[in-house]
Amino acid sequence: MIIILLGPPGAGKGTQAIRIMESHGLVQLSTGDMLRAAVAAETEVGKKAKEFMAAGKLVTDEIVVGIIADRIEEDDCKGGFLLDGFPRTVAQAEALGQLLDDKGLKVDAVVEMKVNDESLVDRITGRYTCADCNKGYHDTNLKPQKAGVCDGCGSTNFTRRADDNRETVTSRLATYHAQTTPLLPFYEAQGVLRTIDGMADIDDVTVQINDVLNAL
Ligand code: AP5
Ligand code: MG
Ligand code: ZN
Repeated sequence: MIIILLGPPGAGKGTQAIRIMESHGLVQLSTGDMLRAAVAAETEVGKKAKEFMAAGKLVTDEIVVGIIADRIEEDDCKGGFLLDGFPRTVAQAEALGQLLDDKGLKVDAVVEMKVNDESLVDRITGRYTCADCNKGYHDTNLKPQKAGVCDGCGSTNFTRRADDNRETVTSRLATYHAQTTPLLPFYEAQGVLRTIDGMADIDDVTVQINDVLNAL
């Protein structure tokens, strides 16, 4: 199964991807996570991507398509994968279609997570993650059971993303509306678009996504 999670910054793509990965045995492919790892490791890709990411702009299609083309060749992708944050332009969607076509594969469903812009700013500025196991939290929506201690691994070290400030969020949202929303009619025309209510609480969103996947 090949699934795309499509939605603005803070829609809950990463939060849900981890849950679906566990329940459906799909690998999460997050271009954002891969690019952040490249920036941290100061690779050639990371050096090119860093400024675009800090400005809330998209990294070039060439870079992200290259990353995905390599990644889907790996063994763990054979059982299917869940794309989180890719594609983000029509050119990326066309390139993905070609890559899959060459392997006799296709996108099974594109799940659009619809959320109001105002809520997204709160979600993103409140987000933080465990520095050791990467488990995600939110200042008010999703706190660890014991304050200051990660539920997953017991660590007390947490980090916030460099692009999770109010100014960059505004720019990321504008980028989404200008460059990524054209994917909605693109996938609708292919009959694979499914829209869910991303404003619902986290568990309810998981139920909605499971309903979509179980109906395939
Ligand atoms: P990326 O890492 O993909 O960031 P994004 O799209 O901006 O999305 P986020 O990761 O911020 O949000 P999310 O939807 O995963 O939300 P989350 O689950 O964490 O990309 C970063 C940058 O990399 C881009 O700006 C670009 O520069 C570059 N890039 C990446 N891919 C690219 C591509 N294909 N092409 C070009 N450039 C690319 O949830 C957010 C918060 O809300 C959390 O705290 C969570 O706890 C909370 N939350 C989640 N769901 C709910 C809910 N239902 N109710 C209440 N709170 C909730
Ligand atoms: Mg994410
Ligand atoms: Zn942890």
